[in-house]
Amino acid sequence: MNARLIVDRDFVVSELDRRIFGTFVEHMGRCVYGGIYEPGHATADEDGFRGDVLELTRELGTTIIRYPGGNFLSGYNWEDGVGPADKRPVRRDLAWFSTETNQFGTNEFMKWSKKANIEPMFGVNLGTKGADEARQFLEYCNHDGGSALSDLRKEHGFEAPHDIKFWCLGNEMDGPWQICHKTAEEYGRVALETAKVMRWVDPTIQLAACGSSHRNMPTYGSWEYQVLDHCYDEVDFISLHTYFNNHGDSAAEYFGVIELLDAFIKEVAAICDAVGAKRRSHKKIMLSLDEWNVWYKTHKIENMRVPGWPEAPKLIEEVYNTEDALIVGGALIAMLNNADRVKVACLAQLVNVIGPIMTETGGDAWRQTIFHPFALASKHGHGRVLKSVAESESYSAKTFPEIPYLYATVIDNPADGTTTVIALNRSLTDSMEVEVELRGLGTDRELVHATELHHSNLKAVNTKDAPNTVAPKANKDVTINGERMTVRLKPASFNVITTKATPVGNA
Ligand code: AHR
Repeated sequence: MNARLIVDRDFVVSELDRRIFGTFVEHMGRCVYGGIYEPGHATADEDGFRGDVLELTRELGTTIIRYPGGNFLSGYNWEDGVGPADKRPVRRDLAWFSTETNQFGTNEFMKWSKKANIEPMFGVNLGTKGADEARQFLEYCNHDGGSALSDLRKEHGFEAPHDIKFWCLGNEMDGPWQICHKTAEEYGRVALETAKVMRWVDPTIQLAACGSSHRNMPTYGSWEYQVLDHCYDEVDFISLHTYFNNHGDSAAEYFGVIELLDAFIKEVAAICDAVGAKRRSHKKIMLSLDEWNVWYKTHKIENMRVPGWPEAPKLIEEVYNTEDALIVGGALIAMLNNADRVKVACLAQLVNVIGPIMTETGGDAWRQTIFHPFALASKHGHGRVLKSVAESESYSAKTFPEIPYLYATVIDNPADGTTTVIALNRSLTDSMEVEVELRGLGTDRELVHATELHHSNLKAVNTKDAPNTVAPKANKDVTINGERMTVRLKPASFNVITTKATPVGNA
């Protein structure tokens, strides 16, 4: 099959906000305990942080991490997780019916963030709590000193403020499963007032209001409109959450979810703009896709709850296969092509709980299949996303009426002269010869790398004993001719190809 991909140096979607490569750590299952934190593990450091997980987190290239939930957030008392560890209360967590020991909390996460080299993204509990708790928590975290709560932080051993810039105003407040779920009217008012007082405490923060938990929610669309009608002037972002599934067990249908994500993003941006237009506002609300991933094999109630209020039980430990990795890669392409609106996104979650990293408590850590497209995109995704025109044959599916086989994005990095093509071949049977035209990006180009993620078995997985079954390899099928490049993409493959303009005088 032949296809074309065309970009022009002067046609830019947006600068790429690196926060698009975010992930998520929730107090759920073995994400914190047995995931990032496991005192006594052979690789644990003096703070009890697993060294193997820290290393893989850095390799994943995640830039910002959302914490501490998730549904957990809506019943969380931040005060339980600070101060001397032996004085912290043990609580029953009503989100996941688990016992929370609170041995890991805000200050531990901040310490871990520094070691992982990521930006923290926190949430305030707007389920059982509200504006008062939110302003106090923010004062504890971000105020220099000289007030009761900032001095309490110092007493807890953290002299300098944490300076957390990005805050979520609750979690999935549209969902009836949420602890203290709210209507759009109720939540819109609470979000407005909470945002207002949080900004008074720290005017430098960015705030995200909860959008819909899913595009299929019955309140989708009206929820975003009503919430923003209240808090448009006080918030910077609205969130979107989405989890993809292959319930129909058809890879061709599954690829359609990527188109649905693109539609979701564009619809939410349009709703934000409708609220803005009604107010005659020049402000644009940006999108925070702060929970997304493949999640369906472990989506039953028994995967989410273990009887007997256990500590850190195994919950939703989804094992990812080749086709899931292709979907994750495709979703990243969709976000990149909408980089003018999607400024933050969090693959949910980081470790064990629907995570790209899997561990054994007391044992090894390894990369799941979905680790690879994320790590590749983050490593090579720097600069400006260009408007690309992709021409290829397409097919029709129940998930989406027209699915082009070629799905791609192009990122140009003027800082180092590189241009990266990220491309998915959605044909299950045919390889694809793509002619790429990089107009105006330099006639003399050299190949930096061409990497493909492909496995002939779409159900192949990585395990503790065979951790590299699905892993990136070099693609040798690339030729460069001036501004043009021809690359052959294997069927059902995710590809990242970087070329570099040769500076004049270097020939
Ligand atoms: O990521 C798992 C859960 O999915 C989160 O806690 C919740 O926000 C979402 O429904």
